[in-house]
Amino acid sequence: MSESILRVEDLKKHYPIKKGFFNRQVGTKYVVDGISFDIKSGETVALIGESGCGKTVLLRVLLGLEKQTSGKIFLKGIDISTLSKRERKKTYQKLGMIFQDTSGSMHPRMTIEQILEEALYLVGDRDRKSQYQKVTDVLLKVGLDPAFRNRLPIQLSGGQRQRVVIARALIINPAIVLADEPVSALDVSLQAQVLNLFMDLQENENLSMLFVAHDLAVVRQIAHRILIMYMGHILEEAPSNEIYSNAKHPYTKVLLIASPSIAKGINEESFHVGLKVGDTPDPANPPQGCLFCTRCMQAMERCYKERPERKEVSPGHFVCCHLIDEEES
Ligand SMILES: Nc1ncnc2c1ncn2[C@@H]1O[C@H](COP(=O)(O)OP(=O)(O)OP(=O)(O)O)[C@@H](O)[C@H]1O
Ligand code: SF4
Ligand SMILES: [Mg+2]
Repeated sequence: MSESILRVEDLKKHYPIKKGFFNRQVGTKYVVDGISFDIKSGETVALIGESGCGKTVLLRVLLGLEKQTSGKIFLKGIDISTLSKRERKKTYQKLGMIFQDTSGSMHPRMTIEQILEEALYLVGDRDRKSQYQKVTDVLLKVGLDPAFRNRLPIQLSGGQRQRVVIARALIINPAIVLADEPVSALDVSLQAQVLNLFMDLQENENLSMLFVAHDLAVVRQIAHRILIMYMGHILEEAPSNEIYSNAKHPYTKVLLIASPSIAKGINEESFHVGLKVGDTPDPANPPQGCLFCTRCMQAMERCYKERPERKEVSPGHFVCCHLIDEEES
């Protein structure tokens, strides 16, 4: 069994809702509400869910930019959730981050070399002598000519800039890369190029990665395992091919149908899916029963009262839905 790189146990991030002159707490927003997963060495795990479900907040907590409300985070077996802020800073050396909005993240007057050297500097690598070589190596890794080191971001195309963003995450030689929608802002042909680059890195560098996306089509080629997130919870988790061929949760099925390139191969009628009209419930006021009950076309009486437990339906395939009990009985 490969080594565990990042393991999360029952992680929660709740925000108080405060109001009035005295700033009194009047409620709680359950943005991340009990998430567990384990990413092994060389594995890419995709985290998929619609806007607002808590994906970026989860990454911010993993990075230590925000403190979790409860739960544990293990990096290579070491519990980093209990470290002091100072000690936690050192863990940045092991986490390569690709932020969601990268358009404004590079200083326009800094050369690519300065941008990459700054990433080393921020994790305490001040060895000027080795920096030149590290910049050369990482540019080659992401498929850019090392001569690009002297260019400014504005002198690069969108795809080249995204390669620099990836290089900036890799140059620190991280144990794992956390990538928040790294291709969402790119057009389809550039998306394919950048996804190919990630696949090369998986093969040549044994890259371990948590890859966040909205869309199941995007991660089809690169994810080994997929987590389906909804309102701060994981509703389904399975090896990638299981999700595409044998999805069990009605929400996962909705996401599959919503991706035109995947939906083509699906017999929609056998899926019984669709969405009830209505907004996503407020994370400050989640439904008492199944979190998806207000939108699920297959909701039964029980779904409105009782939260379904996580059940393993086949090895490594976990689902939170009462329909699993119906299938079993
Ligand atoms: N500091 C904060 N205080 C209170 N609520 C917050 C805070 N940060 C985020 N939230 C709320 O947490 C929820 C999840 O936000 P998050 O940015 O994680 O969504 P997301 O899944 O990344 O969405 P998107 O796909 O649009 O990026 C939102 O309702 C957001 O308003
Ligand atoms: S538990 Fe009920 S409401 Fe929730 S997803 Fe399953 S069928 Fe739908
Ligand atoms: Mg986000």
